[in-house]
Amino acid sequence: MDQPATLLYFDDEHDAALRLCTAAGLAPARVERHRFPDGELKLRLPDTLQGRVVLLRTLDQPNEKLVELLLTARTARALGAQHLTLVAPYLAYMRQDMAFTLGEAVSQRIIGRFLAELFDAVITVDPHLHRVATLQEAVPVPQAIVLSGAPLLADLIAVRRPGALLVGPDGESAQWIAQAAARHGFDHAVCTKVRHGDRAVTIELPAMAVAGRAVVLLDDMASTGHTMAHAARLLLAAGAASVEAAVTHALFANDAITVMREAGIGEIWSTDCIAHPTNAVTVAGLIAEALQPAGREAGQNA
Ligand code: R5P
Repeated sequence: MDQPATLLYFDDEHDAALRLCTAAGLAPARVERHRFPDGELKLRLPDTLQGRVVLLRTLDQPNEKLVELLLTARTARALGAQHLTLVAPYLAYMRQDMAFTLGEAVSQRIIGRFLAELFDAVITVDPHLHRVATLQEAVPVPQAIVLSGAPLLADLIAVRRPGALLVGPDGESAQWIAQAAARHGFDHAVCTKVRHGDRAVTIELPAMAVAGRAVVLLDDMASTGHTMAHAARLLLAAGAASVEAAVTHALFANDAITVMREAGIGEIWSTDCIAHPTNAVTVAGLIAEALQPAGREAGQNA
């Protein structure tokens, strides 16, 4: 019988790694990590790697993790891995997809190419692709697979808030709102947002009656929480009976949860792409399917 493929993971993603191993039939193998007093890292991988190897590393707080990816991928190849897949449920640096002012680094392109040099395949969930149509344009690997947490969140909302009005806080959320609404026939609409700074946005509500409605805001991510908070305040002022929030990526920087709660948001739900107390659904099954040969072909270069 064939050996199961190996799933490399780091200690801080132990729980997510075991969920994925169970769902996908992978053999877990922890990457040992030591930080020297001067901040440099030493990693140690199992010395028996061969065939297909999958590395799980979600890329919130990404800067140090990018060094881990470099060290891990190069070492895995040297030890005998023949095919390397990166499973990054959250893929960082995708929002900076152009130089908004002269001299700015186009992080999406630079990080995308960095990953493509290390891996044969990349699997991610709801990457923030705005001005590029496919993940492969941003991360030019042979196999670039995009999954979505929106249907999972839609199923949860259908149970917790049946008959909810789904609202996207900005134009970019329209894709996830459309997917979720199609699945359960939710009424839905999308706001218009202008960003003025890291924590400053202005939002206009869509022309749709919200009075008396249970509203769920749905987006790919919340970072400072100000987008969700601003939208929630407007919705409640317009008479919404309640406002809840659902996101694929629980970035929730600093006091984001407080900011959202103070704006009147009740429940906050997220997928486990990033581990957080708000996690309400798991993407393990979804990723496991994508790791199967049929899934890899179906999702190739999405
Ligand atoms: C950007 O368009 C994203 O979809 C989110 O709306 C954005 O990143 C949220 O950021 P914040 O929570 O900091 O307002």
